[in-house]
Amino acid sequence: MTVQWSDDLAIGIGIIDDQHKKLVERIASFSRAVESGDRNRMEDTVNYLIGYAIQHFGAEELIMIRNCYDQFREHRDEHSWFIKEVFDLHRRFAEGEEMTRESAEALRDMLVNWTLDHISVKDKRIAETLNSFGGPLRK
Ligand SMILES: [Fe+2]
Repeated sequence: MTVQWSDDLAIGIGIIDDQHKKLVERIASFSRAVESGDRNRMEDTVNYLIGYAIQHFGAEELIMIRNCYDQFREHRDEHSWFIKEVFDLHRRFAEGEEMTRESAEALRDMLVNWTLDHISVKDKRIAETLNSFGGPLRK
């Protein structure tokens, strides 16, 4: 399983769509690393993903706060859940834990599914809500 950017994932806020393309690319890199079975590549791509996920979620949360988004708390909880999952994954690599192919594939599927669902449902709702206000978006 992998993930690839498609315009179906666009939510209609340019700054967020651009970041989502990069996030999706980093998850795809992790997917390729899992396919390759190369543990060092998996560890590297997880680190690469963590850095960008934190940066992107922060930017998205700032937009929600500045625009008084009504579901900020629930949305932020979803981001926190994802970061905790990636943190655990990083820790397992850092501590040298053996990881079977099945286990790596299950983690990859979880990250891919979460990302696709989160962008196409939760992030789309941000854009729909904020665009319905009609005023300029506070970034
Ligand atoms: Fe989000």
